[in-house]
Amino acid sequence: MIRIIATGKGGAGKTTVIATMSRLLSREGYRVLVIDTDPSMNLAMSLGIPFTTTRTLAEDKTGIREQLLGDDPEDGHGHNHEHNHPVSIDQLLRLYEVYAQDNVRVLVMGTIPYGGAGCICSSISLVKTLIEQIASRIERYDFIIIDSQAGSEILGRGLAVDYDYNLVVTEAFPKSMEVARHVMKLAGDLRIKKQVVVVNKVKDGNETDLVLKSLCLNAEICYPVRYDERVAEADRNGQLILDTAPDSWMVGDIKEIMNMIQVSCRPEGGAG
Ligand SMILES: Nc1ncnc2c1ncn2[C@@H]1O[C@H](COP(=O)(O)OP(=O)(O)OP(=O)(O)O)[C@@H](O)[C@H]1O
Ligand SMILES: [Mg+2]
Repeated sequence: MIRIIATGKGGAGKTTVIATMSRLLSREGYRVLVIDTDPSMNLAMSLGIPFTTTRTLAEDKTGIREQLLGDDPEDGHGHNHEHNHPVSIDQLLRLYEVYAQDNVRVLVMGTIPYGGAGCICSSISLVKTLIEQIASRIERYDFIIIDSQAGSEILGRGLAVDYDYNLVVTEAFPKSMEVARHVMKLAGDLRIKKQVVVVNKVKDGNETDLVLKSLCLNAEICYPVRYDERVAEADRNGQLILDTAPDSWMVGDIKEIMNMIQVSCRPEGGAG
């Protein structure tokens, strides 16, 4: 199972890239779970799931934590303390997983319920535990892809230790690149195996060169995704460009990144 996290500055395009890539991977036959850890909860909407129908992990935080921590690693079954019957991690996931377009499965971490409710640390920690248990105990997915809140908080909380990819989404301007630089440093601290820099909304070739130079990157880890105004137009209508203009060069650029990831993951299986 390949674990990927998308990081970067607000508005750089994390959610758009993840939503598009996860659907493309799913179309290839991979079992893909995406987890929205951004309290803004945009990812499910980008995947066609109405905001109101999503049951979030944060809503049932205490119960889920009890079930996960009460789980017996030997038999894969835990104990539901409240109702006193066993709960497997598979059963737990079925309660919260929503099937989106192209069969992508989505989990939503959840948001801050009211002003003054405090930070989202405990919800992030819950997602971390959940993914660790999925990774060590069940064969349910080929890819887990995390969409994160803007900035470095998610890495500061140690969510992505030993992940396979940090997909750093950046635009070619200084503030965006500065965030990219910082998340790459933190991802290194967390021993994330590969970092891929997605230079998004590219309008000319110089922008990729600028990012390469500013961040001192090797060209082979840097992938341009071209600007296409139809992306934002689709977004405004609650759609993805994959449905409104599937022949877009932006979709083609995301396919390139997906192909690279598929090739690099091939020995471990998946559908490819
Ligand atoms: N390649 C592209 N060409 C044109 N517009 C794009 C492209 N990629 C993303 N956008 C647009 O940029 C805006 C921000 O994208 P998105 O919401 O994916 O960013 P984000 O990094 O997830 O932001 P946030 O940190 O706020 O969650 C959206 O309006 C989206 O449609
Ligand atoms: Mg987003």
